[in-house]
Amino acid sequence: MTDRLWIQPTGAALGADVHGVDLSKPVDDATFAVVEKAWAEHLVLRFPGQRLSDDDLMGFSARFGELDRVPLPSAGQVYDSGVAPHAREWMTVVSNIRVAEKLVGGLGNSELVWHTDMSYQPLPARASLLYALECPPKGADTWYCNMYQAYDTLPDELKRAIAGKVCTHDASHNSAGELRRGFQETHDPSRTPGAVHPLVRLHPVSGRKCLFLGRRPFAYVHGLSVPDSEALLDKLWAHVANPAFAWAQQWRVGDAVLWDNRCTMHRRDEFDDRMRRLMHRTQIVGEPVLAG
Ligand code: OGA
Ligand code: MN
Repeated sequence: MTDRLWIQPTGAALGADVHGVDLSKPVDDATFAVVEKAWAEHLVLRFPGQRLSDDDLMGFSARFGELDRVPLPSAGQVYDSGVAPHAREWMTVVSNIRVAEKLVGGLGNSELVWHTDMSYQPLPARASLLYALECPPKGADTWYCNMYQAYDTLPDELKRAIAGKVCTHDASHNSAGELRRGFQETHDPSRTPGAVHPLVRLHPVSGRKCLFLGRRPFAYVHGLSVPDSEALLDKLWAHVANPAFAWAQQWRVGDAVLWDNRCTMHRRDEFDDRMRRLMHRTQIVGEPVLAG
């Protein structure tokens, strides 16, 4: 039934609200088709006012493709997520909450730098779905940016400078800057461990070009000296920082936010660690990255 379904764009460079769909119930094909179309148009969809179990979240996520396994945790941290055993492989918990001294999830309360989820893997996630169970009253906004626009508005000189070039996406740190389990610190960006992807990628559905930066720290553009790579990346990141490409999600309990991880990046503001924040996240296995 699509009677009550309506899409309200944010009016910013990306993002829209989807009203009138209860994700705890099976979503029929007609409704799903509207959601998919809105997703292709707006890149980030917020479904407010949901009440979802982990199974609901996994069930809806799986409509977009095969569920991806949770990312590697950061080094030295022990989590006790409380997620049911059958869901643990698929449900990432993002939280600063501790129960009996143990964190229930990762990424704490600090700022998270701009990133694309799993871009350090050969097949970066197609999509991520983040669901808010507990939120602080302020802070912890999640910002999204439109990487089609970022590419389209690049000066010709920068388009030429990145055409055909590939970049290493650091696997050794998470977006909070913490070292991941099993990695060591390196200081030479040309030796950064992680997947290598084209700086310009073609979106497999829209066929449009987008800028694919992944994350700034420890990135390296192949074929350049480290100083030249740093200088080129700094120019690209200065271009992307334009607020005209971005929209901030201010979380309320019950928001479920789905993003197209192929043509967007996101970052998070820090928040007061005395406040509780609890988010559950799924992600979808991505397709091979196509060079643009
Ligand atoms: C993530 C992420 C942002 C947030 O889970 O991939 O970047 O707001 N989270 O916690
Ligand atoms: Mn992320």
